[in-house]
Amino acid sequence: MASAQTCFSIADLRDLAKRRAHKMVFDYIDGAADDEVTLARNNGDFSDISLVHRALVDCMDLDLSVSLAGLDLSLPFFCGPSAGNRLFHKDGERAVARAASALDVACSLSTLSSVSIEDFSAEAQGNTFFQLYVWKDHGLVREMLARAKAAGFNAMMLTVDLAVHGNRERDWHNGLTIPPVIRPKQVWQALSKPAWTWDYLTSPRIGYANLSSHSGGESLFDFVSKQLDQSFTWQEAQAFREMWDGPAFIKGVVHPDDGKRALACGYDGVIVSNHGGRQLDTDISPIRALPAMREQLGADVPIVLDGGVRRGTDIIKALCFGANAVSFARPYLFGLAGDGEAGVRRALWLLKDELERGMTLLGAKSVKDLTQDFVQLSVR
Ligand code: FNR
Ligand code: LAC
Repeated sequence: MASAQTCFSIADLRDLAKRRAHKMVFDYIDGAADDEVTLARNNGDFSDISLVHRALVDCMDLDLSVSLAGLDLSLPFFCGPSAGNRLFHKDGERAVARAASALDVACSLSTLSSVSIEDFSAEAQGNTFFQLYVWKDHGLVREMLARAKAAGFNAMMLTVDLAVHGNRERDWHNGLTIPPVIRPKQVWQALSKPAWTWDYLTSPRIGYANLSSHSGGESLFDFVSKQLDQSFTWQEAQAFREMWDGPAFIKGVVHPDDGKRALACGYDGVIVSNHGGRQLDTDISPIRALPAMREQLGADVPIVLDGGVRRGTDIIKALCFGANAVSFARPYLFGLAGDGEAGVRRALWLLKDELERGMTLLGAKSVKDLTQDFVQLSVR
């Protein structure tokens, strides 16, 4: 049986996940909205950037640490939030928290997690971000933020690119619901993925652990349509900011003016993201949106690039174009779906190893040295 230890790239972990997980689960991770143009761009646009290395630079002791709105991170990347991780592996978000802690990587918990705020927090040793959606019920927001604070989360992020759920056609075809239901159509898949199916049959029912209002059995699309507020504006974003005592980020902006609005509402920084191409298809990729965001917000505002990172060199390029750190979801989710906690650890280790090798070959000793001097847009 293949394991994460024999994976040498995030692409290998993706193959492993595809082999182990039920198709509807793999497609939920791997898929995106409409024609998946943005999904392809998010990573593809990194390839249009050339690195320009410098020779004979002493890179003996690399410094990969960064400070993000007062949070000290030993690496310039962290696990972004993702919903329902127990769909992918029985240990779900707990496995992510444990693996991230083992590598001293910060991690995030989604509002729509399948493990509770308190249970996740008990496993996470390092910095933690709590991700919030724009619920109609502001009382629920207040309650969740208070729970996250009490559980010791270090920072909050408000996701603003999911006013409605994106059109994920793979999920429609697969009939994905939460908890998943094995209908006749999915039986063959269930039989051909015995490890996933065994997990699923022998684990407690999967649901949104922080939300008592979720009765289950409906598509995520339907659930989100009922619960999230499409009339929400910056006014509410400001009100949510005021409910959180500590660093706070807006996740899911690509226009520099939205970055400025976020700061005006009291947020400490922004996460440049299009939700991994899962929402508005043909939306601009984060790496393309990043330079203008940095220019508008100035040198000191914390900016995270989120989406499309699959290699250490992608991280380097994002930092060269002005990001303070990057976040991602699919890289660690492929690991989780492929091999549980060991898979997440492998994903994080691979990105760290690639980042270190990339910095050494580039001739940059510290992430602080990474500037636009090391990058050029290629002409194809
Ligand atoms: C997500 N993402 C996400 N974001 C968020 O703010 N709250 C959430 O609950 C989720 N859920 C979720 C589930 C799954 C399966 C995926 C793949 C993604 C989006 C995520 O945080 C991130 O923005 C993108 O995934 C970044 O793109 P990459 O790194 O996956 O390419
Ligand atoms: C997703 C939502 C839940 O991307 O954030 O699936």
